Amino acid sequence: MSDRTDKLRELDYRYCWHPFTQMQGWFEEDAPVIERGEGVYLWDTDGNKYLDGISSLWVTLHGHCRAEISEAIAAQLALLEHSTMLGLTSVPATELAAKLASLTPPGLSRVFYSDSGSTAVEIALKMAFQFCAQAGRTNRSKFVHFVNSYHGDTIGSVSLGGINLFQEIYGPLLFETIAAPYPYCYRCPLELAPDSCELKCTGSLAEVLEQHGEEVAAVVIEPLVQGAAGMLTAPPGHLRRVRELCNEYGALLICDEVATGWGRTGRLWACEHEDVSPDILCTAKGLTGGYLPLAATIATEEIFEGFLGPHESRKTFFHGHTYTGNPLACAAALASIGVFETENTLEKMQPRIAQLTEGLAEIAKMPHVGDVRQRGFMVGIELVRDKKTKEPYDYAKRTGHRVILEARKRGAILRPLGDVIVLMPPLVISQAEMSELLRVTDESIEAATGNA
Ligand SMILES: Cc1ncc(COP(=O)(O)O)c(C=O)c1O
Repeated sequence: MSDRTDKLRELDYRYCWHPFTQMQGWFEEDAPVIERGEGVYLWDTDGNKYLDGISSLWVTLHGHCRAEISEAIAAQLALLEHSTMLGLTSVPATELAAKLASLTPPGLSRVFYSDSGSTAVEIALKMAFQFCAQAGRTNRSKFVHFVNSYHGDTIGSVSLGGINLFQEIYGPLLFETIAAPYPYCYRCPLELAPDSCELKCTGSLAEVLEQHGEEVAAVVIEPLVQGAAGMLTAPPGHLRRVRELCNEYGALLICDEVATGWGRTGRLWACEHEDVSPDILCTAKGLTGGYLPLAATIATEEIFEGFLGPHESRKTFFHGHTYTGNPLACAAALASIGVFETENTLEKMQPRIAQLTEGLAEIAKMPHVGDVRQRGFMVGIELVRDKKTKEPYDYAKRTGHRVILEARKRGAILRPLGDVIVLMPPLVISQAEMSELLRVTDESIEAATGNA
């Protein structure tokens, strides 16, 4: 290890506070200090090379340091770094809004920018609430969310969350929401199998809406895959049924595509798999190809029109962030969309999805792999102490974490969700790189869990 790395670590240990990290353990870990990226690889300050198996927290699409995106940002930088969308507009923000309206599911046409997935969801909540209030549906002030859901870390988005570990301590700060079950087929509470269950779990959502229908402003869902919950994949038809129930009970549908959007599931949007158009769609993460923080909350014209009126009507949407529609971030997003179009990224990734499926079938046979869930390039490998009984590992053992430390030694960056190992490589990963990722994953699981 170089003196430089030592010095940088010292600064980190002295001054940084890392997200979702028990800092007491952090000081013993000597995490790599990342300095450079190219394609699907990252390099640390000691020259070690790592395959970025999680797309730097699910954002990198076309690889690190893509010339097209870097150049678009540089060109924008030469013109204008920032101007506000309060009272003004900008070239890249308008062009990107039009592009997003053309790329999102039918009916979505109005783009409200912010800068993270959490703010995109927060905005969707306020938008839905105010829309209902202004449409005279004042009793519709509640939100239905799903058990195990994750929508971000601001108070509104945490209120919608369903992962106890992340929200328990904040209980007194949160507002009340209504929970409905999301399918977790490996541990189905109804003890049914996905191929024959006829989506009985959506019956509980129907019951919730039957009971609270008139009070519900919106149902909020991570379509097809609950990411942070451990890549829980919903069976086909689930999202469509949720849309139908929202229509039946007059609730808006908010699809949080922060994790699932931009090709992760094999289509541009998860909603496309089931021909579903939400009333509001939230996007962030991959929106700029992983270059700059940018988010968008995209609504229908009907919702937008609900905010129109004379100045004194006070129907204005009173929300906005300083960096809303930042021109550099919008230029990056336009360039990323350009790469999708010129490279046929979605088409090209299909054989890699098949390769991933094949490799995962082998990993599924390992003695401590309980379940493997995949939707496109979103993968969760659930590790269990006992494969027969599905008994989880002891929480204190940090089995998932030990797997990613093994992966690091073998040249790949992974990050677990508890004892679920996540794979979410950049969309441009090659055949050889995918084989490498699968090999390292297999070896690391074996090293951390053993063969017995
Ligand atoms: C589905 C979903 N929504 C919202 C968020 C929050 O996004 P951010 O971390 O950009 O605030 C995430 C982050 O992982 C997510 O997976």
